Amino acid sequence: MSEPKRLLPVRDDSIHCVLCHDAPCSKACAQCDPGRILRALRFDNIEIAADLLPEDYDPSWMAEAEAVCPTGVKIGDVLEKLKHKKQRLEGTAGAGKVDLACDLCGVKLENPFLLSSSVVASNYEMCAQAFEMGWAGAAFKTVSMMEMHEASPRFSAVRAPVGDWYGFKNIEQLSTYSVEENLEFFRRLKKDYPTKVIVASIMGRNEQEWEYLARAVTEAGADVIECNFSCPNMEAQGTGSDIGQDPDAVRRFTQAVRRGSSIPVLAKMTPNITDITVPAIAAVEGGADGIAAINTIKSITGVNLDTMTAQPSVHGQSMIGGYSGRAVKPIALRMISQLGQCERLQGSHISAMGGIVTWRDSVEFLMLGAQSLQVTTAVMEYGYRIIDDLISGLQVFMAQRNYRSIKEISRSGLENLVENDRLERDTIVFPSFDREKCIGCGRCYISCRDGGHQAISFDAETRKVTLHGSRCVGCQLCSLVCPVRAIRQTRRVSPRK
Ligand SMILES: Cc1cc2nc3c(=O)[nH]c(=O)nc-3n(C[C@H](O)[C@H](O)[C@H](O)COP(=O)(O)O)c2cc1C
Repeated sequence: MSEPKRLLPVRDDSIHCVLCHDAPCSKACAQCDPGRILRALRFDNIEIAADLLPEDYDPSWMAEAEAVCPTGVKIGDVLEKLKHKKQRLEGTAGAGKVDLACDLCGVKLENPFLLSSSVVASNYEMCAQAFEMGWAGAAFKTVSMMEMHEASPRFSAVRAPVGDWYGFKNIEQLSTYSVEENLEFFRRLKKDYPTKVIVASIMGRNEQEWEYLARAVTEAGADVIECNFSCPNMEAQGTGSDIGQDPDAVRRFTQAVRRGSSIPVLAKMTPNITDITVPAIAAVEGGADGIAAINTIKSITGVNLDTMTAQPSVHGQSMIGGYSGRAVKPIALRMISQLGQCERLQGSHISAMGGIVTWRDSVEFLMLGAQSLQVTTAVMEYGYRIIDDLISGLQVFMAQRNYRSIKEISRSGLENLVENDRLERDTIVFPSFDREKCIGCGRCYISCRDGGHQAISFDAETRKVTLHGSRCVGCQLCSLVCPVRAIRQTRRVSPRK
């Protein structure tokens, strides 16, 4: 039997970096900043990582950095690979000059990134720090006239093997600060950071409260109001996502907000509904200038088998709560595209969120209709510092593709998303196998045999796979399952009759 090839070519040791605060590796290295380079790699920002690697990089520099790494990352190996890739990368020329300025319903944003309404934007100090680090604005944690009683613990996460969160569940409600305390945060932030954008998220129990809160936050200096029609965790019946599921209530409460304020109004939608455009249209009919979406998706992240309790467990009991982070991005993208394609919403701003972690996620949301972007879960997991790679990654992307503004990217992918009956179904894309890369694991064979069309055979002696074109339907299951990415798509062809 032939010697099995090793998996090493695709394993990237940077994945084991735990992204330490005040990274010891950076402190130990006098010549460059390995912690920042590893972070750029983690957030899909390879050109910036390569830029940060000095031209005269020498592997001996990493001896001390590796010695202090708490998880033993082979930083030298990672940087050596990066050094070899450096020449082949497109580079960052012109990226620094790319202007990310855009607007939120006419209110100027220095870049499209805002903190979304949640714990990450709870008070003056938190938002001030985020603004200093580069966030263009913050949708404050929702202000209400209700007294909040929060449970402990209130979060649970579905974690990937290396520790990052696939998805995150919370059972939290609204701001625990009083209305007056929140208004004071807005006044101070507006005074100290006049160019940053304050989005006041509000929630009332009746029309009077919605109107009162709209007036109060406007007088305190908010630039935009976001109506929280979407929190799935509310104790009080008839609030939060109960409103977002009822288009008449959405229309009525948006009208009440409109009576209380003339600044731009976003209606924040719940994804816990069949067709998100229905309440969104009602909001616009009620006077909203735009839509924010998505709030969290009702979920249960797991059940403890010993206690028979879902997570998080509060005295042996739990409740359905809101899911966010990476896992919800596909659903959020779908909903943003539906809002973007809806004729009756043309001209309404779309502020998108739901699983944005990297600059690439941001571009995807922009292409499907977003004009501004909001983030919570990734900030909870990694901190405000992710703004570095969101901004620089977006700038590099725009410079490389000659995009001159965020507006040019926004909606650019919508026309490629068609109705089911308009998709071309007459041609096939066959897979192509890279014999050099193939490690002979047979995963493509198993998946094609058990989950596909039995178009791949496997020679146990040579550990080689063979494609049988007459059986292949071009589903590409094999390329999706290949652990070393040795299977690619070929040209699209008309199948034999
Ligand atoms: C812990 C937590 C608290 C939240 N609180 C609020 C809130 O007070 N008001 C609101 O409109 N959305 C709230 N959200 C929803 C977020 O603003 C956002 O819509 C959602 O998490 C999806 O974005 P993400 O995947 O970037 O987190 C909260 C989310 C989390 C995780």
